[in-house]
Amino acid sequence: MTITARPYRDLSDFKEMQAVLTAGRQAANHAYYVHPGDLSWWLFYTDENLRDKICLWEWNSRLAGWSLLSTSSRTFDVFVTPEMHGRSFEAKIMLWAEEFHASTLKNLHSRDIRTMWVAETDLSRIHWLEMRGFLPSPQGMFLMQRSLESDLPGIKMPQGFQVRPVAGEHEVRLRAAASHAAFGSSKSFEDYCPRMLRFMQSPVYRPENDLVTVSPEGRFASFCLLWPDPVTRVGLFEPVGTHPAFRGRGLGKAVLAAGLQRLHDLGMTQTSVCVESDNFSAARLYESMGFKKSFRLLTYEKPL
Ligand SMILES: CC(C)(COP(=O)(O)OP(=O)(O)OC[C@H]1O[C@@H](n2cnc3c(N)ncnc32)[C@H](O)[C@@H]1OP(=O)(O)O)[C@@H](O)C(=O)NCCC(=O)NCCS
Repeated sequence: MTITARPYRDLSDFKEMQAVLTAGRQAANHAYYVHPGDLSWWLFYTDENLRDKICLWEWNSRLAGWSLLSTSSRTFDVFVTPEMHGRSFEAKIMLWAEEFHASTLKNLHSRDIRTMWVAETDLSRIHWLEMRGFLPSPQGMFLMQRSLESDLPGIKMPQGFQVRPVAGEHEVRLRAAASHAAFGSSKSFEDYCPRMLRFMQSPVYRPENDLVTVSPEGRFASFCLLWPDPVTRVGLFEPVGTHPAFRGRGLGKAVLAAGLQRLHDLGMTQTSVCVESDNFSAARLYESMGFKKSFRLLTYEKPL
């Protein structure tokens, strides 16, 4: 067996990395594979240049897995094709990613190293992590899912509001204002806007899948970005938010209802969203739209 590793090169690598995720999701092998839309979001929205921190792992010259390191979140992520899951190939990549990243993080005086997206059902990965001294953090996430095949909720809007897709890059400041406030970004708005513009100019952004509710005076109140996956026909919501000035008025529900309808119209049969285990308001919002918690996604951490 010959294993080789190489850095990320271009969009064709991105597509191949997404194909690893899709194959994993189709295999339903108790491991968790993030949605291909998550990868789009990480690589093209995040400030940190994550594309420089990717390794593509080939086995006999075919892509069999990839790893991604992030210094800002102190995490390493490893995804391998379903055939490689639980085998020594996966353990080798995990070990390399942990050791390489731990040495970078130590130089940066980080307190710990983490890995996320561990399904509570993925016993082989959990076993490996526990053997290496990792422990599950009390924090984690829930995967919430909903069928799109029936009972789509109607869109109820407060008077004077409308729901529509973002019209294009010229609306970047309106779009950024809603997102900046919804997530309480620590960046100044003037630093935040260029990041949103970069994302809107990236090859993965489709304004028709970026839905917003608009107030009578033209402000963007709530938003959701949709990531359809034509292979598995599961559409992802990432991210979702409501500007604090507009919360508690049903605008989160309204934009989600429009998103469910759009994903259905695009041929998706299922939808999913990940929610932090302590984000009760978001969990409540998704439950009120018919989503149910499917399973926990654990974060494992180890002190450095
Ligand atoms: C979560 C969030 C989008 C809710 O938006 P919103 O526009 O206020 O939500 P809505 O008014 O449409 O309310 C939807 C449902 O959630 C419930 N809800 C909303 N906020 C809540 C809160 N703080 N506590 C309890 N329930 C809450 C509402 O009661 C309603 O349920 P109901 O129809 O059964 O009464 C908003 O709080 C937000 O932007 N949070 C920060 C960003 C975030 O966490 N995004 C989600 C990431 S997964």
